[in-house]
Amino acid sequence: MGDPILRVENICKSFNGDPIIKGVDVSLAKGEIKILIGPSGGGKSTLLQCMNCLVTPDSGKFWLEEKVVDISNKQQLYSYRQQVGMIFQDFNLFDHLTAIDNLTIALRKVKKMGKKEATARAMTELSQVGLADKKYLYPAELSGGQKQRVAIARALAMDPKVLLLDEPTSALDPEVMGEVIDVIRNLARKGMTMIMATHQINLIRTLADEILFMDAGYVVEQGTPKALLVPGSRSQGFCDKLDLVTGENR
Ligand SMILES: Nc1ncnc2c1ncn2[C@@H]1O[C@H](COP(=O)(O)OP(=O)(O)OP(=O)(O)O)[C@@H](O)[C@H]1O
Ligand SMILES: [Mg+2]
Repeated sequence: MGDPILRVENICKSFNGDPIIKGVDVSLAKGEIKILIGPSGGGKSTLLQCMNCLVTPDSGKFWLEEKVVDISNKQQLYSYRQQVGMIFQDFNLFDHLTAIDNLTIALRKVKKMGKKEATARAMTELSQVGLADKKYLYPAELSGGQKQRVAIARALAMDPKVLLLDEPTSALDPEVMGEVIDVIRNLARKGMTMIMATHQINLIRTLADEILFMDAGYVVEQGTPKALLVPGSRSQGFCDKLDLVTGENR
């Protein structure tokens, strides 16, 4: 792996005096995919939110493309957040805006694009996720899988250097999970750098360059699926349980 695109070091976060993230380092090289697994409450979502500064960590150092990012500096934080896209379990779309306007609003406000350019870019991204024909529909008129694909298109429209995904398929019915998984696999093929919390056993096995197993605010195991998914490891034990729960066959 080459130089890291995104690196965070010693991320700590407490809520109400309760330490939740206890000094976590993550480094993502260009095109690398890391997958976060571990028991509920272990801190996966909080870590991802800290990495995107949606939640401000109590401490931690940030680098984007080897440059230090001072997250206490508003301008640097703003620029950093533009380059680090985030996908949530529950989509976080603007319910009062159509699919296409969910994309164009950020392009116009953040990227300062004109209407024509923003619309063209939004259409390109919606087409990439197979939703060109749904552009005028509101989130309430879309299936869960379609909503998540709009959310991914919206993130991609901002040209992020890295995507953080927090259980992007967990809120979906099994029959539409596949369409979102296909989009994520496509992104991986195109070389998108990603860190994703997921319980999708096949994504864990087939997409991860590295697995990070988090428990109680620490990364307690880290390595390739080949190295970690071996009898006796906590990661393997966790995946065995997922297999039983999901009976997944993709
Ligand atoms: N805003 C908050 N205020 C207080 N406590 C919080 C907050 N956000 C998260 N926590 C706590 O932090 C701990 C870690 O939560 P987090 O959501 O990061 O875990 P997780 O690994 O993503 O779990 P899951 O697999 O269920 O999604 C939990 O105990 C949770 O209650
Ligand atoms: Mg979570």
